[in-house]
Amino acid sequence: MSTQDLDLSTQSTNSLNTGLSEDARASVVEHLNVILADHYLLMLKTHNYHWNVKGQLFKSMHDLTESQYDDMFEAIDEIAERIRALGYDAPGTFRAYSQLSNIEEAKMDISALEMAADLTNSHENLIRNMRKALDMADEAGDEVSVDLLTERLNVHEKAAWMLRSFNAS
Ligand SMILES: [Fe+2]
Repeated sequence: MSTQDLDLSTQSTNSLNTGLSEDARASVVEHLNVILADHYLLMLKTHNYHWNVKGQLFKSMHDLTESQYDDMFEAIDEIAERIRALGYDAPGTFRAYSQLSNIEEAKMDISALEMAADLTNSHENLIRNMRKALDMADEAGDEVSVDLLTERLNVHEKAAWMLRSFNAS
């Protein structure tokens, strides 16, 4: 198979006996796959703006984006490994990520303020998806995913606030 199969029903996870049903784990993983893809594509966009920002806000935007993509790089590994611990394969191709995520690609030749507004929207998009994932993990009784998602929600709400502040008066 050349592309990653995103159909979870084709993956057998019957050998796991951790107290979470296969249905519960699959429902959580379906959401975690989206969150992983969102993180990866938002990290790429953040990196793009880190490189291409110009003008008076260069230094502040260059530094803020660096701390944000560093954080997302570590989070991606944690989310992917949580998917593995729940018994499923972690998606890891750009084709899979573009199918799973609705994070828009970076725009070229925009100002630092437009970059900040665009990144704010993407973080808010990810935050909305994480709330859905959190509800599902809670319903499934998956405390570890609830913990992970709560921590990520806190980080992204803070990131969105900092980025939003570039355009605040
Ligand atoms: Fe850099």
